[in-house]
Amino acid sequence: PGPPWPTAAWNTVRFARQTLSFLQELHERYGDLVTLPTVLGPWTLVFHPDGVRHVVQENHFNYRKGGISNQALRLTLGNGLLTNNGDSWLHQRRLIQPVFHRKQIVAIGQLMAESALAWTEEASINAGQPLDLFQEMSSLTLNIACKALFGADMLAHKERVLQASTTINHLEAQAFYVPGLLSLPTPQRRRLYEARNTLYTVVDALISKRHQASTESDLLTLLLDARDEETGESMTDQQVRDEVLTLMVAGHETTSNALCWALLLVAQYPDIESRLREEYTRVLNGRAPQMGDLPQLPLTRMVLEESMRLYPPAWAFARQAIAEDEIDGYRIAKGAYVLMFPATTHRHPDFWERPDVFDPERFSPECSAGRHRFAYFPFGGGPRVCIGNQFALTEALLILATILSRYQLRLLPETNVIPEPLITLRPRGKLLMTAHWHEEL
Ligand code: HEM
Repeated sequence: PGPPWPTAAWNTVRFARQTLSFLQELHERYGDLVTLPTVLGPWTLVFHPDGVRHVVQENHFNYRKGGISNQALRLTLGNGLLTNNGDSWLHQRRLIQPVFHRKQIVAIGQLMAESALAWTEEASINAGQPLDLFQEMSSLTLNIACKALFGADMLAHKERVLQASTTINHLEAQAFYVPGLLSLPTPQRRRLYEARNTLYTVVDALISKRHQASTESDLLTLLLDARDEETGESMTDQQVRDEVLTLMVAGHETTSNALCWALLLVAQYPDIESRLREEYTRVLNGRAPQMGDLPQLPLTRMVLEESMRLYPPAWAFARQAIAEDEIDGYRIAKGAYVLMFPATTHRHPDFWERPDVFDPERFSPECSAGRHRFAYFPFGGGPRVCIGNQFALTEALLILATILSRYQLRLLPETNVIPEPLITLRPRGKLLMTAHWHEEL
């Protein structure tokens, strides 16, 4: 639909340089479904919630994880749950699902609450020195994910893991715009493999430790003990490694981004901040929050949801059409690369009034009633919906409530925050903030 844009090369440059505003412009100019010529072939961009529902839910059998994004992710995550397809994916999903069952999350909630509290009690926060919030939240969520899922303490490895994750995030995002960047023997591919090998070393150490003392019933034990129903064979070492790496990467970076955006927005909206403090005074009365308190903290939940509306950590994801299809009256060719953008749909003017304004009340039960299921999809939807969504929400709410009930965070005046849409949507550069103990204010 719509006249094609000038040249594939120009579109690709604009997509790379101005991603979010370019998407907005395409949506405004061409409507809810756009076929964009790029140097990597045509991309079908689906902006309308109905189209998203069609691809990820109603006709999901016709769409697989594929195309340039999946190829790039597979270079590091191999055949883990995020990138896998077909029967193999279904088998792994069924195996891993119980770890994320509500019952399990309750047990993990205690660990999350304790870890969040320990973070706020660290000397570096109380010293009033600027914190790089992105670094801090990444290391906190990495440690929680690894302890909760694999019984492993990541403190000794966190610098290496976070550095490698950042390198991978940048290089994989570049692969979207530069043909052959990661498929040919380029310096970028060499750097990507180095970063991947760093993660492999950490993951292998974690697995071999558990091989020696397999007593706890966490995800790692489950993966190591799993047997194929027909052959009785256990998972290969590579498959276990891919699953562990996938959950380690997917399990910390997205949640950390969600926390950064929420804390940043609260710091910029003092009225919301003071309403949150009232909520904490009323419900917590000075003690640290526990999982059981979360239903009594509706404003905290609304703030998190609204932050993920404006800045969805998984800002884009993709599928490849297995056979020809039709969306909203338009033909989708067999093999078409179909992209969906929470970052754009979450600001769709037909579904959101004043879409660029931060207004947590949108997520009150009254305002949410009757909303299109796919007007808001930070965790995706359909059978491939994020397996860690309850894990992530519980963790993010506990961390937010623990920090905001004790501290007021402020951005350093010279810090200019720019959203950087890599594989995840993160703040570019350092996110420097100071934390002030409430009593001092
Ligand atoms: C899948 C977002 C946290 C593990 C997804 C998808 C989205 C998403 C949008 C679907 C992608 C697609 O359909 O192509 C998020 C966000 C998070 C978050 C916004 C935090 C705020 C987590 C956590 C874990 C996790 C904490 C694990 C501990 C996964 C896995 C998949 C996935 C394994 C692939 C599931 C499958 O295909 O079966 N996530 N996620 N995520 N997420 Fe998350």
